[in-house]
Amino acid sequence: MYDIPFLDLPPLNGASGTVRLPGSKSISNRVLLLAGLATGTTAVHDLLDSDDTHVMLDALAALGCRLHHEDSAHGRVLHVTGLGGQLVVHEADLFLGNAGTAMRPLAAALAVLAATQGGNFKLHGVPRMHERPIGDLVDALRPLGCHVDDLGQPGYPPLRLRGEAGGRLASARPIRVRGDVSSQFLTALLLALPLVSAERDIVIEVDGELISKPYIDITLNLLARFGIAVQRDGWQRFTIPQGSAYRSPGAMHVEGDASSASYFIALGAVAAHGGAPLRIEGVGNDSIQGDIRFVDAAVAMGAQVKRGPGWLEAHRGRWPLAGITMDCNHIPDAAMTLAVMALYADGPTRLTGIASWRVKETDRIAAMAAELRKVGATVVEGADFIEVTPPGPDAWRPAAIHTYEDHRMAMCLSLAAFNPLAGATLPCPVRILDPRCVGKTFPDYFEALFGVATADAQHVPVITIDGPTASGKGTLAAAVADALGYHLLDSGALYRATGLASQWDGVSPDDETGLARLAGLLDLRFGHGPNGSRAWLRGREVSDELRAEAAGLLASRVSALPAVRSALQSLQLAFRRAPGLVADGRDMGTVIFPQATLKVYLTASAATRAERRHKQLISKGISASIADLRVDLEARDARDKNRSVAPLKPAEDALLLDNSTSSIEGSVQQVLSWWQQRRPF
Ligand code: DC
Repeated sequence: MYDIPFLDLPPLNGASGTVRLPGSKSISNRVLLLAGLATGTTAVHDLLDSDDTHVMLDALAALGCRLHHEDSAHGRVLHVTGLGGQLVVHEADLFLGNAGTAMRPLAAALAVLAATQGGNFKLHGVPRMHERPIGDLVDALRPLGCHVDDLGQPGYPPLRLRGEAGGRLASARPIRVRGDVSSQFLTALLLALPLVSAERDIVIEVDGELISKPYIDITLNLLARFGIAVQRDGWQRFTIPQGSAYRSPGAMHVEGDASSASYFIALGAVAAHGGAPLRIEGVGNDSIQGDIRFVDAAVAMGAQVKRGPGWLEAHRGRWPLAGITMDCNHIPDAAMTLAVMALYADGPTRLTGIASWRVKETDRIAAMAAELRKVGATVVEGADFIEVTPPGPDAWRPAAIHTYEDHRMAMCLSLAAFNPLAGATLPCPVRILDPRCVGKTFPDYFEALFGVATADAQHVPVITIDGPTASGKGTLAAAVADALGYHLLDSGALYRATGLASQWDGVSPDDETGLARLAGLLDLRFGHGPNGSRAWLRGREVSDELRAEAAGLLASRVSALPAVRSALQSLQLAFRRAPGLVADGRDMGTVIFPQATLKVYLTASAATRAERRHKQLISKGISASIADLRVDLEARDARDKNRSVAPLKPAEDALLLDNSTSSIEGSVQQVLSWWQQRRPF
């Protein structure tokens, strides 16, 4: 997951492969609350692991629910032992981040529990949570006899919920709730009021036209799984039968998130052209989520979608897409994705019935309008609609996208990077600010996107960092790659691994043909282990062996052989993948990536380098003399510089960086600042 201030997406031009969706946020948090209130233990499979579920889990733990994670052959399982409707903790301070799906239902449940069993609970969140309305829910709870204190602005969190043991609720009359601002208020009451249904039926009546009805369907569906059969009369009146009690169903499986699927359905419609469709696993035609109906909207714009149980396949159909006019009341979250698909349409797209966008993680109508304009679209917005006219080929612009701490803004606008498919005259990269915000529902979104998206190699930015041995380029390159979220190529490791493989196979260091054959078949994998980056050669971990002095010396010899160098060329080029690459070595800027966007040549005096190497060896418990090390270094420099092929030298357009006296952080900042100067944002 990218924990960086921005992530630059290069212009992208295709998509193929399979995406496995994370669990649904709406289902995860409802299931967690129900399991937490129920009698018995529920094994929850495929739970979403994200910011919004973490705050719910923390709240349940604080309330005394027992939570136990188990890694099984079928993935992670969470066992939740519920309270059986009885408070065991009567006072708590619960921080709920920006999770509406935690704030609203917990407020209702704790209000009725405190009012009947005694308690004092404070509910609060991030500043934006304190701007998201909850007054309609509070207005429904107070006439019941719940004590709800506004701790900030009336009608908004933070709230305090209080009560004395033995309190009684006025539940004989129907409980009225407004349904036209957020359906979460009704969901909250439906989830909470079975707790107080012992003596009589509880009736909830909805004032105003209920919005986002499919979310109420999810609530009713999950209540049924926990033993509560709510009677529904139209969308106006809901009855919880007397004596309803939550019973754990034993196990619950959380289906993939249908709103998260929307980005990949859109991606298929825009970028799966030619070959195979984009396959999406985790949600399909058997979904209980309303946002699955996004599929019909995408089809109306021209997508081709096949569906089965637990899967979807999306492919480009009509192209360009068709501009549409649609009332999106039934798919409020996924409709945001339509606003971005509109960039690829043949005319304007008008989405109506989206007033609820204004009270979500941010004012999504205003945010979407502002950011779509930045990439070049013409946008008209109103209280409850947005109309997007796509940019003409010359109007696309590179844009730094504000994400407003809203996961959906980040995921939606990432799709603007496919502008080459819209015929953008100037293919434009897209900068996503604060990419970590996707952690709310889809922490690995960008990894999933880059796993299926393709780019023209020439559009994938490359930063090369060349220099002599022990100049610190490996450390610098890794830090720069980390800061930008780019891939890393440690090209020296390829020569070191070739040397190692030659020893394993008994190939002589002078057998150029034999060594080239080994290099061409090099089965080398990189990954992360507990102590940083690791490498495996033919399945065997070789991280330490590769870094040893002996491997470096051998690499210096094999790398002087032209056939070995050319055998490793295609392997190195294959590292150039979205979102970008930082490559370090000797000839990255001169031979392998001569078109690199930024080339750095890193040096340090021989004395400094010998000292650094000495420190490194000492820290590994290997004794060495600085003088000997310096002689070795200079011999390797001479060999690397004087060989006939790809000698070590700065590229003509390289920027020189002597880090003899500067810190690693200083060098990283210098390279990032050079990089920023070359970006169009
Ligand atoms: O960067 P390093 O110390 O891991 O490199 C080991 C040897 O590999 C070095 O002596 C020169 C050679 N090398 C090369 O010739 N070209 C590269 N791009 C990287 C390394």
